[in-house]
Amino acid sequence: MLRFLSRQASLSIIRQVIPLKTASSHLSAGTPAIRLRTVSAASNGHYLVSMPERRPFARLPADVSPVNYGLCLKPDLVDFTFEGKLEAAVEVTQGTNQIVMNCADIDIITASYALEGGEEINATGFNYQNEDEKVTLSFPSVLQKGSGTLKIDFVGELNDKMKGFYRSKYASPSGEMRYAAVTQFEATDARRAFPCWDEPAIKATFDITLIVPKDRVALSNMNVIDRKPYPEDDSLVEVKFATTPIMSTYLVAFVIGEYDFVESQSSDGVTVRVYTPVGKAEQGKFALEVAVKTLPFYKDYFSVPYPLPKIDLIAIADFAAGAMENWGLVTYRETALLIDPKNSCASSRQWVALVVGHELAHQWFGNLVTMEWWTHLWLNEGFASWIEYLCVDHCFPEYDIWTQFVSADYTRALDLDALDNSHPIEVNVGHPSEVDEIFDAISYSKGASVIRMLHNYIGDEDFRKGMNSYLLKFQHKNASTEDLWDCLEQASGKPIAAVMSSWTKQMGFPIIVVDQEQQGSDRVLKVSQKKFCASGPHSGEDCPRWMVPISVCTSEDPSCSRMKVLLDQPEITITIPNLGPNKWVKLNPGTVGFYRIQYTSAMLDSLLPGIRDLTLLPVDRLGLQNDLFSLSRAGMISTVEVIKVMEAFVNEPNYTVWSDLSCNLGVLSSLLSHTDFHDEIQEFIIDLFTPIGLKLGWDSRPGEGHLDALLRGLVLGKLGKAGHKATLEEARRRFKEHVEGKQILSADLRSPVYLTVLKHGDSSVLDTMLKLHKQADMQEEKNRVERVLGAISSPELIQRVLTFALSDEVRPQDTVSVIGGVAGSSKQGRKAAWKFVKDNWEELHNRYQGGFLISRLIKLTVDGFAVDKMATEVKSFFESHPAPAAERTVQQCCENILLNAAWLKRDADDLHQYFLQRKVPPV
Ligand code: BES
Ligand code: ZN
Repeated sequence: MLRFLSRQASLSIIRQVIPLKTASSHLSAGTPAIRLRTVSAASNGHYLVSMPERRPFARLPADVSPVNYGLCLKPDLVDFTFEGKLEAAVEVTQGTNQIVMNCADIDIITASYALEGGEEINATGFNYQNEDEKVTLSFPSVLQKGSGTLKIDFVGELNDKMKGFYRSKYASPSGEMRYAAVTQFEATDARRAFPCWDEPAIKATFDITLIVPKDRVALSNMNVIDRKPYPEDDSLVEVKFATTPIMSTYLVAFVIGEYDFVESQSSDGVTVRVYTPVGKAEQGKFALEVAVKTLPFYKDYFSVPYPLPKIDLIAIADFAAGAMENWGLVTYRETALLIDPKNSCASSRQWVALVVGHELAHQWFGNLVTMEWWTHLWLNEGFASWIEYLCVDHCFPEYDIWTQFVSADYTRALDLDALDNSHPIEVNVGHPSEVDEIFDAISYSKGASVIRMLHNYIGDEDFRKGMNSYLLKFQHKNASTEDLWDCLEQASGKPIAAVMSSWTKQMGFPIIVVDQEQQGSDRVLKVSQKKFCASGPHSGEDCPRWMVPISVCTSEDPSCSRMKVLLDQPEITITIPNLGPNKWVKLNPGTVGFYRIQYTSAMLDSLLPGIRDLTLLPVDRLGLQNDLFSLSRAGMISTVEVIKVMEAFVNEPNYTVWSDLSCNLGVLSSLLSHTDFHDEIQEFIIDLFTPIGLKLGWDSRPGEGHLDALLRGLVLGKLGKAGHKATLEEARRRFKEHVEGKQILSADLRSPVYLTVLKHGDSSVLDTMLKLHKQADMQEEKNRVERVLGAISSPELIQRVLTFALSDEVRPQDTVSVIGGVAGSSKQGRKAAWKFVKDNWEELHNRYQGGFLISRLIKLTVDGFAVDKMATEVKSFFESHPAPAAERTVQQCCENILLNAAWLKRDADDLHQYFLQRKVPPV
């Protein structure tokens, strides 16, 4: 995941507002990324820092635009080619003898243009600008202003790069290898399937016809309106689909393959089908149930009905992203759609629910109303990443999904956005590689987090009112971030644009510094802001400022905001009347504000008992711990202090709180793998997790729910990995019984057991695991194995795992998690994975052809280094082996490596001392 201007020229530069006085000193203090920025004086008294276009790029000329695409495609599922015929109704707004369109990896055979009622003029030249992914069709005479028809015959390849029109491999029920032809067009790959105006604001209707083998399923955005034998070949049929509403090219889709389906109707009359591999229709039932509940939920939430007669959700075997919201034909990875009642674990069920909720939200937010330009991608992705939780909370209240949001999205966004190499949510992008780059945690997770903060600031009623007017006003059109703010501002009467621009136009976020004083019976808080950076806070007059909605709760009612104010200046005072000196005060109840908090030691000390006695809400226990952890990485408090706070979580019952703790301890463990006292932190982990492990046991008890299953898996996996003897023994015993077929492991126990036996296992365990992988019928099970293989400890076996990652046994989209698993498991693994990536760079880069998977691979491989010279090595490798779509990721990784190294130098000795002293029994 990954994260996301208007046609007006004014928006082609994204502005970051930095106070006037010291913009230049801010620049000179910066890292290389900051050096890239240019500064210009602006009339409002601020310097505007713009992110420059890094690669030359121009939008398509507006003199010819499409009205309707009549598109006929004939894929060859054996030779992996396709033939295409485009008959586009176009509008020429200014006489020209050229038509410029997007086109990539396509050969045009013929092209002609005819003005309505006029003669066909054949194009005399096709000038491909490969770098720009464009083609210029030249005509011998001027195409006059007016409506006309552009015809193009072309051919292309069904590629194996998981983008454009591509092939996906599957086994037929008899075990024969076959291929489906499928599409993935977002962000800029429709141009690989047919020449088109491939920009989100250039909307048109589509009439699609597919010529396919008669025994295959053929699907597209709309329902089938005609199916007849293909006259030239009686093994083929011609399938014609209904005309689409006016839509953007990136949302067009077609699929040709063999599938089964389950079907239902939503209460508002939409036909919903979930398409699965042949013989696995049962596995579509869970997603179908979710989809059927979700469609009416969104219809009600938005007060706008779903506009198409049908929606298909289909599992695609080879798929780069998690899922894609094509209008009426949503494509998914198998693991994001298929649930087997026996063999799927609770976390898979939850993931399917979230992904279905996410993609269906896009049917309104993205498909019906579309961003003007990719700069506003965050509107799509941030919004969908927020509302997917609202939807899952509606369908499955027992998942306590909003607490999980804080651990999964909110803290992840804060971590990334604390880097100097972060970027503003609204970011100027042009060239496709720059667009690919913003499918990141800023667009998704920070986007979702600031929308959550906004929703909380506005209140649900006005938020929904504003959303409804936005969707109605811009339906079948395009919109920008400002358009949404305008609608929400009108609905709420609050200064939405001013508040939100401070969050979307400038990168980073504040740390709120708070101090308190008892004045008689009142408590007086002094609250100020600085920019939070992963290397320590940034203060001074050049510091950016945010408009921060602040709320405060007290020990009298920890779940309720007692005061709400807007911090719109450097410092404010908040008076809480009638609060006695022995009562505590906490900022940001519910952990909704996108900021970190720095309390005085006295205030912090007053809050810590609330962790132990559970009087603080789970989401606040989590938030407090996570703030302290990131403050320790930034050198603002000692890591030993945080370790002590972690010890206060011994009585913790909440899954998500444990999950966040576990994640932070994982980060620390990885850091300390660079020291000779790595074992000590394993002991600490064992001591912390043992009581909850004993309480949960291995087998589920009657009446247990979803979160108990998640917690058990988390805790056993943590204990097993850290080497807890009893857990290791029991895991080995259960693994043996599982492999021998005596007692099959329940789905929720498989990941922790596999991880434990591999971590402490030899080549025979690896062999067994690879056998399980080969035998597995579900991609979920294959992924489960793939993700833990890297835990194996011996250097030779690590090499076997790395070789396996690039073998035919692993689907290209999953290679990244195998290599990432190796890098994330141990110090040796990290070194070996990095060497493997360097040695196989050409193949890996070629496999993903840029795209976001390469960024993920790089991040997973190098982010955990903690030695300064590795930052230099990584930087210089990517200077000589450029990966344009991963440029920013490389900068972020190098920054993280330096931060890790500094953290280690600063706190390693104290941590070592603390761990040693813990072991000495008190006298
Ligand atoms: N629009 C994206 C799919 C996408 C991602 C296209 C990256 C091009 C590049 C889709 O809506 C999406 O966000 N999918 C997520 C899953 C979601 C539940 C966060 C994904 O693929 O990770
Ligand atoms: Zn999305």
